[in-house]
Amino acid sequence: MNKSTPETNAGEPETTGHEWDGISEYNNPLPKWWLYTFYATIIWSIGYWIVMPSWPLISGYTKGVIGYSQRATVEKNIADAKAAQSVYLSRIAELQPAAIIQDPELFTFALAGGKAAFGDNCAPCHGSGAQGFVGYPNLNDDDWLWGGSLEAIETTIRYGIRSNHDETRSNDMPAFLTDEILSRAEVRQVTDYVVALSDPDRAAAEAAPRGAEIFAEQCAACHGEDGRGIAELGAPNLADPIWLFGGDPAAIYDTIATSRNAMMPAWEGRLSPATIKQLTVYVHSLGGGE
Ligand code: HEC
Ligand code: HEC
Repeated sequence: MNKSTPETNAGEPETTGHEWDGISEYNNPLPKWWLYTFYATIIWSIGYWIVMPSWPLISGYTKGVIGYSQRATVEKNIADAKAAQSVYLSRIAELQPAAIIQDPELFTFALAGGKAAFGDNCAPCHGSGAQGFVGYPNLNDDDWLWGGSLEAIETTIRYGIRSNHDETRSNDMPAFLTDEILSRAEVRQVTDYVVALSDPDRAAAEAAPRGAEIFAEQCAACHGEDGRGIAELGAPNLADPIWLFGGDPAAIYDTIATSRNAMMPAWEGRLSPATIKQLTVYVHSLGGGE
């Protein structure tokens, strides 16, 4: 670096006198537009400090003269949304599910609310996509234990199944071996018959005629003579490939021998009527509603 006094050669711009490897630094003033913009931002920031919340203090902060608060804005937005929701919710509480699904706006609202309530209350047993698990029915298919109409679904949700509610749905299948209604051999024979019911190919080979007899005597009252189930009794269709407790012969044997009688809690009193209706609409929409 070579420090010398600024040179002012005619025609040459003024330099600061700094020079590096033969390159000298011009001493041009800052452009006016830039400088004024810079001053303007300083003035703006002072104005901003006065008007808006800005400087942190030991406890709290300077609030600014207009008292703007993002938190208050969010709280107001939430309150507005709640007010809008409560209009929908009170209409849903008044209407039957069949009427709710006729109104596109209410229907959309109920589906969203039902989906959220399902995630909170039902997913632990039925799965987050309502796909079910062994012993917990899949609610996406059109195979229903207790019926898939809006009314049937609402009744199931409100009162539960084998729950402690007075109006619960209930119908207990006997434990045929434990209760000594059938012998081991008979349970095996009727198991063969049930396996054959849902698998026509094996029907001729495996269905013991004694199994068919036992079925007609002991099972048809609930499951129907053809084994296709009776929804009023919550007795599942045994002639399809959908199984709640497993469809292999060992699982079917266990079901008949010891019975299952699964329990679903009642939601009346635990969820609001509007929430139960939203759940009804949601479950009905899942694909298998009747
Ligand atoms: C503690 C576990 C559990 C919870 C929580 C639960 N369920 Fe169930 N649910 C069951 C069981 C088990 C059954 C089958 C009962 C049976 O075997 O008859 C069932 C059956 C049903 C059925 C009848 C299906 C049919 O085929 O008829 C519907 C509808 C249903 N549940 C909806 C719901 C909704 C909606 C919720 C949330 C509000 C919910 N369940 C929460 C365990 C549960
Ligand atoms: C009093 C009515 C009743 C009688 C009688 C009855 N069942 Fe059931 N059965 C039911 C009900 C209700 C269920 C559903 C149980 C549950 O959801 O927990 C069921 C479930 C079953 C299942 C399980 C189906 C699945 O999807 O996993 C099989 C298998 C079955 N029954 C076979 C029989 C056979 C075989 C007999 C006769 C020996 C019989 N049941 C007699 C009511 C009955």
